[in-house]
Amino acid sequence: MSGFTPGWLALREAADHRARDGMLAMALADRLQANPLVRVVDLGCGTGSNIRATYALLGRQQHWTLVDYNPLLLEKAREVLPAWADSATIRGDELVLQKSGKTLVVAFRQRDLVVDLDGALGRECDLVTASALFDLCSEGFIAKFAMAVAQRKAVFYTVLTYNGVQRWMPENTLDAPMAAAFHAHQNTDKGFGISAGPRAAGALAAAFRRADYAVREADSPWLLTRSDQALVAALVPGFANAVSETGRLSAADVAAWLAQARYGAEVGHTDTLALPPG
Ligand SMILES: C[S@@+](CC[C@H](N)C(=O)[O-])C[C@H]1O[C@@H](n2cnc3c(N)ncnc32)[C@H](O)[C@@H]1O
Repeated sequence: MSGFTPGWLALREAADHRARDGMLAMALADRLQANPLVRVVDLGCGTGSNIRATYALLGRQQHWTLVDYNPLLLEKAREVLPAWADSATIRGDELVLQKSGKTLVVAFRQRDLVVDLDGALGRECDLVTASALFDLCSEGFIAKFAMAVAQRKAVFYTVLTYNGVQRWMPENTLDAPMAAAFHAHQNTDKGFGISAGPRAAGALAAAFRRADYAVREADSPWLLTRSDQALVAALVPGFANAVSETGRLSAADVAAWLAQARYGAEVGHTDTLALPPG
């Protein structure tokens, strides 16, 4: 199971929400806001960051199914969403949230996407979405996934797929070899087969175009400054650990890279919106 902790997901949430591309978000709203009821499946939901950012783009009645294979993250999502909402009630296994004049019914589904993608998606939905998920996935999974979404004729919207861009401030001569090693680490198996890593957004676009979807992409970089110091401070050792695991740089080089104080970073992501034909 993944090492994503509620603490790490909470630390990145503000930067994630800030990074999302506004034009693509508006295009999603244009397509779905008029639906009297929109049924949404959020894959790899973690503690619910995606619903907290995306609900505002959709209409007044929303039904969300939050899917993750990690029961602890699903439990945390169930715990924190009522506090985020204006008011909340429990209806069987679901939460009914009121937020800014909208009603969000939220169900939770524990599934491993690799083992049971159809079960994760359910039979019918209007929108399949995910945040910070697809760079973990293999190109084979992405192809199969796009076909499953197309069978349901659902809209697809994903944000924050890592795209390989990274810049550290101030720069260091070790940044380039460290990035190359990090990308080699990205192309290891994160549970889906060899991860697409920075190629994931391209693979998503190609797979949805094959299914006759209209695909739009936009950049959604983290632009981290001194006010994001806690996130930068967590990012640096996580990045160095991944590089160390590859064995591509000496321990001395990794230590020298770590010793460089950083006051900012750019981490590139891509957002993708894919609309079904008709
Ligand atoms: C980077 S986190 C993103 C979480 C959340 N979407 C967010 O933006 O904060 C990736 C999420 O995908 C989930 N995940 C990874 N592999 C999965 C799989 N095979 N099946 C279901 N969920 C998976 C992890 O448990 C984690 O919650």
